[in-house]
Amino acid sequence: MALRRFDIEAGGDSFAFKPETEPNIEFWLGKYPEDKKRSAVIPLLWLAQKDNDGWLSEPAMRTVADRLGMPYIRVYEVATFYTMFKLAPVGKYHVQLCGTTPCMLRGANDLKKVCEKKIGKKMAVTDDQRLSWEEVECLGACVNAPMVQINDYYYEDLTPESLDEILGKLGNGVDVEPGNFVDRLNSAPEGGATTLKEDTLYNGSRNSVKGLPNLPESDAEEEPKSEAKGKPDREAPTNVDREEPKEEKLEAAEEGVEATQDAEKQIEGTRPEPLEIDGKQADDLKRISGVGPKNEDQLNSLGIHKFSQIAAWTPENVQWVEGYLSFRGRIERENWVGQAKTLADGGETDFSKRVDSGDVDSSREEGED
Ligand code: FES
Repeated sequence: MALRRFDIEAGGDSFAFKPETEPNIEFWLGKYPEDKKRSAVIPLLWLAQKDNDGWLSEPAMRTVADRLGMPYIRVYEVATFYTMFKLAPVGKYHVQLCGTTPCMLRGANDLKKVCEKKIGKKMAVTDDQRLSWEEVECLGACVNAPMVQINDYYYEDLTPESLDEILGKLGNGVDVEPGNFVDRLNSAPEGGATTLKEDTLYNGSRNSVKGLPNLPESDAEEEPKSEAKGKPDREAPTNVDREEPKEEKLEAAEEGVEATQDAEKQIEGTRPEPLEIDGKQADDLKRISGVGPKNEDQLNSLGIHKFSQIAAWTPENVQWVEGYLSFRGRIERENWVGQAKTLADGGETDFSKRVDSGDVDSSREEGED
């Protein structure tokens, strides 16, 4: 780490916190016991730097040490260690330019040239005291590289042209809004998001879906058998322990049904028509590759029991079922509709043959060998 010296001459002889800073100081001191108040050294140095035009003079450090009952050398040690503390005067707008690898690869060296042209050498202050700059290490905004921090704010995705314009405006006393300087929201790709765009991710409709989304059937989480974690079932709270009045149970059940219906309405696509059948007439949907016991249960709960129903799904039906099961793209990828058509016509698929011969574990019913 480079040796950091403080500018004794520029600091003058005295420093005092601004009266409006006193409540902040009390706030930070209030966090620590009286005999541990030196723990507030970093926040107090930060407040002192704010009250001293963006840098720490030696009298400012002494004032902090006196407030905290610390030897001066201990405060100097902290101030000279952390590069967030400036030890020489800075401009009204101090530019910290990130020169670490991601920013360097994305053009930080060109931004440095702009700073040198508009401001001058590192840590030099312009004659009008408005601008100064320095190079710093990663500021944690690499996804929006290259970037600079000006006073407390980040200016990201910069080009030499945009930084030139920013410095020009600040140099003329015109404030510039911080943020991204390309068409990008936060860390999304330029031009807008390309993934995670489905409304169902954000509108709460997936709350009705049980289990973790997009897991292969065999890895899906088992429903907990008991609500009492770590206890055998027989020790789980019984209905007798917390019997609810019948009307309340009914109300809760009705509310649950309404909530599920509301959530289903939010799923994009068209819900397939349900079919009421005698259980014996149901097809073994697990003969479709991608449908295990859990998916079959969920499909049955939607009134889907026959291959012929799945064979007749429209793209809108597929979209709805994928949204309901949190399987974006999977039904199409696994060709459930094509498989169902073959099976509905009495044909077989390689997978259905393996299921029929008992070779597919995830297609066996619970309790089957
Ligand atoms: S490398 Fe520049 S912000 Fe991380």
